[in-house]
Amino acid sequence: MPLTPPRIVTWTLNPAVDFVSTAPVIAATHKIRTHDEHVDPGGGGVNVARVVHALGGETLAIFTAGDVTGRFLDELLEEAGVPRHRVPIAGRTRVSFTFREETSGREYRFVPEGPTLSDAEWHAALAALPAASEHYVVASGSLPRAVPVGIYAEAARLAAARGQAFVLDTSGEALRAALGHGITLLKPSLRELETLVGRTLPDPAAQEKEALALVRNGAARMVVVTLGDAGAILASEAGVLRRQAPPAEVHSAVGAGDAFLAAMVLALARGAAPEDALDWGLAAGAVAIAGIGTARVTRSAVERRYAALRTKSAAGSA
Ligand SMILES: Nc1ncnc2c1ncn2[C@@H]1O[C@H](COP(=O)(O)OP(=O)(O)OP(=O)(O)O)[C@@H](O)[C@H]1O
Ligand SMILES: [Mg+2]
Repeated sequence: MPLTPPRIVTWTLNPAVDFVSTAPVIAATHKIRTHDEHVDPGGGGVNVARVVHALGGETLAIFTAGDVTGRFLDELLEEAGVPRHRVPIAGRTRVSFTFREETSGREYRFVPEGPTLSDAEWHAALAALPAASEHYVVASGSLPRAVPVGIYAEAARLAAARGQAFVLDTSGEALRAALGHGITLLKPSLRELETLVGRTLPDPAAQEKEALALVRNGAARMVVVTLGDAGAILASEAGVLRRQAPPAEVHSAVGAGDAFLAAMVLALARGAAPEDALDWGLAAGAVAIAGIGTARVTRSAVERRYAALRTKSAAGSA
């Protein structure tokens, strides 16, 4: 037994302050009066840490932050009570906007590219990664400008050398460059998997084949592909599992994948079987999309969802 419970350390190089607000109709030129404003500390790993914290897990959010918006992000995390370690940068932390159009139910998401990091700053971010072996390190999100595309590969190698589990959720070249460098769990969305393999994958069998190929060719030990309203598939040495998403009211999909990943990783860190961890992920994803704001979940809502999923799968296998 480890002396301390595994801690889920998240690593976010390009976090954001996330604003969301709602208007009846979104149209050009005229002033659009908005209501129902929410602001959250955001960016892949920051969301994962918030959700792990909400679910009662041990976490630490490591993130870069700079300028007035960086201080704002830091304060939002303080308010949320999330243990954190800020790597200071000179650039200004980005601000993301989501506008919800009431009449259509559509969501418009504006995501800036974020600041430029100096060599010393991204080196400091690497140096902030923890050394103790029991940790799960979750690297998530896009890279800020001027950060080498191989930085997640380097973080994965460091984690593997330290005996840590390394979880990665990113896209594009940063994702491609990290494959095969010691990833325990990779979480592409279907769109990210399609970009990676260079073709669309409408056919479930093709999705499963590509996820399994990533495991078989050593890209990652486990691959969980999130499929939006279709649920998720999990590929590992043992084969492929597919689980439907539970029916859920959709209010905002921002951070659904992060909530999914947080709950799944927390379950794995607590020793759950992969198929059980997958249900925790689906439960948290369903709760996240039913709320407004980024990855807002409560422990009781996720536990209720999870219990309902378990009852359903028990009934299904009876
Ligand atoms: N419309 C939806 N209906 C039901 N569940 C959903 C819906 N959208 C998302 N989810 C839940 O949230 C999980 C993650 O969503 P998704 O697959 O969109 O990943 P993502 O990481 O948010 O996507 P991306 O990174 O491409 O924006 C899904 O596996 C599912 O459990
Ligand atoms: Mg995602």
